[in-house]
Amino acid sequence: MNFKAPRGTHDLWAAQAEKISFLEEVSRRIFRRYNIAEIRVPSFEDAGLFTRSIGETTDIVEKEMYVFEDRKGRKLALRPEGTASVVRACIEHQLIQNLPVAKLFYMGSMFRYERPQAGRYREFFQVGAEYFGNAAPTADAEIILLARDILTGVGLGDIRVHINSLGCAACRPVFRAALTEYFAKQQDLCGDCQRRIERNPLRLLDCKVDGPRFTDVPRMCDSLCPECATHFNRVQEFLTAAGASFQIDHRLVRGLDYYTRTIFEIRSAGLGAQDTLAAGGRYDNLVKELGGSPTPAVGFALGSERVVMAADNLGRLKLEVRPTVFIAVAGAELEPEAVKLAAALRNRAATVSGIDPAADLQVEGPYADKSLKSQLRLADKVGAARTIIFGADEFKRGTVTVRDMKTQQQEEVPITSFTA
Ligand code: HAM
Repeated sequence: MNFKAPRGTHDLWAAQAEKISFLEEVSRRIFRRYNIAEIRVPSFEDAGLFTRSIGETTDIVEKEMYVFEDRKGRKLALRPEGTASVVRACIEHQLIQNLPVAKLFYMGSMFRYERPQAGRYREFFQVGAEYFGNAAPTADAEIILLARDILTGVGLGDIRVHINSLGCAACRPVFRAALTEYFAKQQDLCGDCQRRIERNPLRLLDCKVDGPRFTDVPRMCDSLCPECATHFNRVQEFLTAAGASFQIDHRLVRGLDYYTRTIFEIRSAGLGAQDTLAAGGRYDNLVKELGGSPTPAVGFALGSERVVMAADNLGRLKLEVRPTVFIAVAGAELEPEAVKLAAALRNRAATVSGIDPAADLQVEGPYADKSLKSQLRLADKVGAARTIIFGADEFKRGTVTVRDMKTQQQEEVPITSFTA
């Protein structure tokens, strides 16, 4: 039996895995600058949590959730996103009341049964943040700037920020009614559009099939109530003040139902169809909807694979190259000394002349069961900068040979010279 990774999942190793870790490290650094604390939430939840928050008529809930029953018959789902879990955790542990500021970030796997293609997977990584308790437009701007800072932090300068406002409970119904009236006049709508026209007409705006022909469709900005219009204008003002360029995208609606007022997507110039790197918005009703006290909130999440792919395409993701020192031994009796030196180098208790003592060394070896020749070949393969060779004759003299792998020059040095 030959097992393969399930369709839509992927194994990541070495450089590819390190690139995701690099993005996560950059994100952590930037989250700290914004005073955001970490939260870890479960990978699966009561399925109802997602249905309730993301919305019954969304693609995610209708078609993409991994729902299963556990042995006690509980209906659970692998998390398709992080926001619902963070809100649930905040309510369960009263974090919004108990934390000085309730700003939380998370990173981890999300699961959606989508049709896999480049940049779209069934298990993918997200990095996201949620900001609770601040209804002011400064919070919306803060989240958009945060997402932008992470993307520029991994070298993505050429990104486009698309924003829109979905209004509130007062003004959205007006827009919905205008949309329903408009769509009722359209002929030959696709199956998805026909199904959604009554329950969720906003989703027709970003329909891949019909969307492009709705050229004269009503715009949300024309229906916003004065409070929502002011809020949206202030967000734009703050983004401009912070030097962030953006464009208003009247068709932007998002695939999750919990949003109110500001929504945004950040796209990359260099990616094909799956070009949305990060997305989010305000969701002022969700905490109450899930049983908490009414609390405004705004957040975002980025798709780690997509961000890494975009940065890689531009050649911007340069991982730190750490110098490698290889330790080779000619004979088992020299092993203890070789192991001792390897340990000292790894613990920064020893340094190698010619290599920056401040650098984080990678130490490889010894491989006593290999011949000296094949150890040197391996040293070459791993790109060692120096190989320290423990030879029997030198060892009797209290020395070892240090080979510069680039120039092939060798030098015999006292074994004590590393730890001086
Ligand atoms: P979302 O737009 O569904 O929003 O996902 C955010 C990002 O996750 C996308 O922009 C994309 O980069 C990545 N992504 C989504 N689906 C896939 C997939 N199948 N394969 C690879 N990457 C994917 C949310 O999840 C919201 N929770 C964001 C949010 C947080 N809103 C408020 N707070």
